[in-house]
Amino acid sequence: MAFIPEDKLLEIKDAARIEEVVGQYVQLSQRGKNLLGLCPFHPDSAPSFTVSPEKGIFHCFGCGAGGNVFSFLMQHQRLTFPEAVEELARRYGIPLTVRDLGPEGGRQAQKRKLMQAINREAAAFYQANLKAPKGEKGRAYVKKRGLTLEVVKDFHLGYALDEWDGLRRHLQNKGISLDAAQEVGLLMPRQQGGYYDRFRDRLIFPILDRQGRVIAFGGRIIGQGEPKYLNSPESPLYSKGRTLYGLPQAQEGLRQTGAALVVEGYLDLLALRVHGITNVVATLGTALTREQVRLLKNQVSRVVLVFDGDVAGARAMRRAFPLFASEGLAVRVLPLPPGLDPDTYAFEHGVELFQEPWDKAQPWFAFLVEELVKAHGLEVEGRVRIVEELRSYFLALSDPVEQGLWLKFTAERLGVAESTLRQSLSSPGPVAAKRLDPAGNLAVNPEERLIRWVLHQPHLIPLEELEEWAQEFEDRELKDLMQLIISSFREHGALDHSLLLARVEEEHLRQQICLLTLGEGEPCTELLAEHWRRACLRRRLRKAQARIKKELAQAAAQDGGEELLALQVQKLKIDQQLQDLKE
Ligand code: UTP
Ligand code: MN
Repeated sequence: MAFIPEDKLLEIKDAARIEEVVGQYVQLSQRGKNLLGLCPFHPDSAPSFTVSPEKGIFHCFGCGAGGNVFSFLMQHQRLTFPEAVEELARRYGIPLTVRDLGPEGGRQAQKRKLMQAINREAAAFYQANLKAPKGEKGRAYVKKRGLTLEVVKDFHLGYALDEWDGLRRHLQNKGISLDAAQEVGLLMPRQQGGYYDRFRDRLIFPILDRQGRVIAFGGRIIGQGEPKYLNSPESPLYSKGRTLYGLPQAQEGLRQTGAALVVEGYLDLLALRVHGITNVVATLGTALTREQVRLLKNQVSRVVLVFDGDVAGARAMRRAFPLFASEGLAVRVLPLPPGLDPDTYAFEHGVELFQEPWDKAQPWFAFLVEELVKAHGLEVEGRVRIVEELRSYFLALSDPVEQGLWLKFTAERLGVAESTLRQSLSSPGPVAAKRLDPAGNLAVNPEERLIRWVLHQPHLIPLEELEEWAQEFEDRELKDLMQLIISSFREHGALDHSLLLARVEEEHLRQQICLLTLGEGEPCTELLAEHWRRACLRRRLRKAQARIKKELAQAAAQDGGEELLALQVQKLKIDQQLQDLKE
């Protein structure tokens, strides 16, 4: 992420004050030198989100999120680093040239533009096919599935003709790079060289990002056959776990209802649209991810999961419950009768069920308990299993009132005493215990303590001495970090925390820097300095010890009497010094 020149970053960072940028999304109040608010990255009841205007960074003591003004925007608005830089530059009127993005950033931006253009071209090509005389087969299938012209248009549906290289020829005629078309997954390489089309004789569903740009495609076989669906692979434009199908088209419906219906398939979503239900998005057949839950959270306050009345559907949805709980987004479930999916249901029974879905849906915890009762029964063994499986879900409930209510519900349903159930459900397993332990976040080892000290008061120790100390680090990652801090300090003549963050690649290291910078300081710096001086001395002594041992062996072999004695005296001295150091 280091390809944008630092002086440019500095200029943008100085204009885009972190308290101002964060303040547009989070209500902050002054607390000493820092500002405090509710964390936008996790359900936060006591303000644990800290912003330091002085250091230009933020950190949440609840969930560990942290970074500078750029990373805040990246995380909050789901942008890449260059996108966040561009966005802030634009907001604060700082001109940014392609050269500022650097050779690597420029190339990447260029490439994304090209890939977007190719997808746009391909979507238009498939759309035209669906309207052309040759596209009769596609049109017949659209009709068979009950899709209206309006839905076809709103969702840019298309048809890939039954040809090996229709799209390839089209792109070639337009002078478009076929290599790049392969990279977005529209073309496949032939063994003997050249390319052929990925999508052939399929109904095409373009997948759009929130700005309405085509980032990927799904293609359904016409009629029966395997594989039923083909999808674009992951690419610089498309990440399946960060995308919800139909989100841009649902925007208005989501806003009006404040609730989102989540279904699994392209055609489930489109069938509901045909029947006038517009607040619906689709996951495209995989379990919901945290990213997708956050996308929903940005738009609505309630989510209803609708799924096929089969086991797989229930399982996929069930995995998402803890995500909703930990993101603090209300969720309910609307299971359909066995054998029906939203598509078939809508055409057979209409969509009344989906019109006030929140009222018709079940609370997820009740649904979960019933599912587990169905699976394991109410014999003693079954009930023990159920409690076991409920534990992680129960712990995911962050509101104690809600926890209490579900505890009562479950105790009644399983016929066990509330107090024993509480005991069993709230004793976290070994993994959860570790995760929940807040002390696990605290800096305990001396290397972290030194870094914390330097982040707080970088000017207190001469850089040369720090460099020597850094040599003593055993943790490679912390050692690299320490050296990065030193070189950043040296370059700028002062430590700029925000710029330092921009140089660190790993997210967890950035979070650690913020935690160490904004966490409570260590009072006893004298002792710490002493520790490192001793560590360096110890290392010098060990080196000398090793050298003398070697010389002793040589002297003994050569029978050098006097020299041997002198060396032995030296060795004793060093041994003694090392011994003293230990004490
Ligand atoms: P389904 O098998 O439930 O298909 O997969 P569907 O949406 O009901 O489609 P129809 O009604 O049979 O035509 C649900 C979703 O899972 C993904 C697709 O996104 C599909 O919409 N999927 C399914 C695939 O990606 N590949 C497959 O082979 C099957
Ligand atoms: Mn279906």
